[in-house]
Amino acid sequence: MADPHDTSAPAQTAVLVAGGTGALGTAVLQAMLEAGRPVVATWRSEEERDRVRDDFADSSGLTLVEADLTDPVSVERAVAGVPSLGAVVNLVGGYAAGTKVHETDPDAFDAMLRLNLRPGFLLARAAMPRLVDADGGTFVGVSARAALRPFPGAAGYITAKAAVLAFIQALDTEYGDAGVRCNAVLPSVIDTPANRRSMPDADFSRWVSPEHIATVVRFLTSHESAPISGAAVPVYGRA
Ligand SMILES: NC(=O)c1ccc[n+]([C@@H]2O[C@H](COP(=O)([O-])OP(=O)(O)OC[C@H]3O[C@@H](n4cnc5c(N)ncnc54)[C@H](OP(=O)(O)O)[C@@H]3O)[C@@H](O)[C@H]2O)c1
Repeated sequence: MADPHDTSAPAQTAVLVAGGTGALGTAVLQAMLEAGRPVVATWRSEEERDRVRDDFADSSGLTLVEADLTDPVSVERAVAGVPSLGAVVNLVGGYAAGTKVHETDPDAFDAMLRLNLRPGFLLARAAMPRLVDADGGTFVGVSARAALRPFPGAAGYITAKAAVLAFIQALDTEYGDAGVRCNAVLPSVIDTPANRRSMPDADFSRWVSPEHIATVVRFLTSHESAPISGAAVPVYGRA
């Protein structure tokens, strides 16, 4: 078995980036490809697939695969199709807010759990045997600062992101001895076009850029981060 704390091993195994067509996803793809790491990214809408394909037309290291990350069969197919899998980065998630608990539709609460939690579980379920067989690897998930610092009106989202963090740490305890390191990043507000549209009066300079988070994610999938496992890494920018 590989020593999970060995910083000297080569880092050119492939990374599966789930949700790679999103705002953070595009920056993560860029960071991984710049490091020369082969990347397989999942897509869901043809429009987003085409945009990413155009954005990275000059990169030979990127493969795009269709996947519904809430469907076990689709996830297993996506994971099985990655040659030399060494890392999984799960960026799939989403946000809903605006109601206190007593005003929240039960289905809306469930939907937050399903969107934020289920993809990571399905990815880990499919990928852990391969990473263990490969003598180790890394798994990175995205929680949120709100998991540690809740605010009113988003209990479903906050609960889901706290569960993402708990899940990553549970994974790390189950697979750490087999050489698989699992870590979570906790963004504050990411400086995305969608957030700028929904909060036009905010001070964007206090937000964290997707590119900065992507650098941290890349580090967590590399051998340079070998001593780090089971961590909740704050990526808050100046907020
Ligand atoms: N934005 C923020 O301020 C912020 C703050 C804290 C944490 N986060 C977390 O950071 C992560 C990335 O955020 P982001 O702003 O980059 O989000 P985003 O732009 O909405 O990207 C989410 C990605 O997930 C994909 N996706 C959603 N449901 C899917 C499904 N069932 N199957 C396959 N793919 C699916 C989306 O595909 P489509 O494009 O086809 O929908 C997209 O590629 C999320 O987990 C989010 O909760 C974000």
